[in-house]
Amino acid sequence: MSTVLITGASGGIGYELAKLFARNRHNLILVARSGDKLAQAGTEMRGLGVEVKTVALDLATPSAAKILFEQLKKENTAVDILVNNAGFGALGEFAAMSEEKIRGQIQLNITALTELTRSFLPPMLARRSGRIMNVASTAGFQPGPLMAVYYATKAYVISFSEAVADEVRNSGVTVTCFCPGATDTGFAKRAGNDKSRLFKQLGAMNVEKVALDGYRAVMEGRTLAISGIQNWLVAESTRFAPRKLVTAISRWVSEPTS
Ligand SMILES: NC(=O)c1ccc[n+]([C@@H]2O[C@H](COP(=O)([O-])OP(=O)(O)OC[C@H]3O[C@@H](n4cnc5c(N)ncnc54)[C@H](OP(=O)(O)O)[C@@H]3O)[C@@H](O)[C@H]2O)c1
Repeated sequence: MSTVLITGASGGIGYELAKLFARNRHNLILVARSGDKLAQAGTEMRGLGVEVKTVALDLATPSAAKILFEQLKKENTAVDILVNNAGFGALGEFAAMSEEKIRGQIQLNITALTELTRSFLPPMLARRSGRIMNVASTAGFQPGPLMAVYYATKAYVISFSEAVADEVRNSGVTVTCFCPGATDTGFAKRAGNDKSRLFKQLGAMNVEKVALDGYRAVMEGRTLAISGIQNWLVAESTRFAPRKLVTAISRWVSEPTS
C-alpha cells in the first residue's frame, strides 16, 4: 500500500481528498494545525481499513517543513504521494494588510509548499516513483486586486509546479498542479470574501466534486488540471483578453455584494 501525505487535511478539499485516497487503499499522513479535527478524521479513515498518522503542525512557521520531513525520515516512513494542499487567502487592500497576514500567506502557500517539494522529491526520484500534487487556484491565472498577495502566491504555485513537472519528466515521478475555482469550504469565510460576488453571486463548486477532479488529475499524472468546465473557460480566456480588463474583472468579482 502506498502512503500519501496531505497538508491541510483537517477540513475542506484536503479532508475530501484524504477520504478518496483512503477509499482507494492508500495509507495516510494527515497534517494541519487542529489536532482534534485531525484525530477525528484519523478515526474515521482508519474505519476504511487504512493506516493513518496525524501530525498537528503549523506549516506557516519557518522550519515546519524540515521538521516534518526529518520526523518521517527518522521513522523510516516513505512518502509515495505528496499533496501540498494547505493554503489560505486574505481579503483587503495590500497597503492596509497586516505584515503578519502577508507573511503568513507567503510562508504557507509558497515557502512550505516549495520546501516540502524539495524535501520529498529527491527520495521519489531515487525510487523512480512518486507523485506530487500542488493545489493552486484559478486565482493564479490573473492579478487579484483586493487579494493581491493570495493571487500572486497561486501564480507562483502554477509556474513552479509546471517547471518542476518538466524537469522530472521521464523520471517515474509526476508533478500535478491542481486549480480549483470557488469551492464550498471554510476558505471564503476565513479569507473574508464570503460576501464577494464570486462566492455570493457566481457560486461555489461542491467540495466533493472538486476533490474528485483533483484525485483523478494526480492519479493520471496530469501536469495542470482546472476543476470545472466554467473555471477552465474563464482561466483560458485570460490569456487572450487585455490584462487591464482581466484585472478590472478580477477586482469586480472580489468586491462585496449586498
Ligand atoms: N475553497 C476555495 O474556494 C478554493 C479555491 C481555489 C483554491 N483553493 C485552495 O485549496 C486549498 C484548500 O483550501 P480549502 O478550500 O479546503 O480551505 P479550508 O477549508 O480553509 O482548509 C484549509 C486547510 O489548511 C489547513 N491549514 C491552514 N493553515 C495552516 C497552517 N498554517 N499549517 C497547517 N495547515 C494549515 C487547515 O487546517 P487548520 O486550520 O486545522 O490548520 C485546513 O485543513 C488551499 O490551498 C486553497 O488556497 C481553495
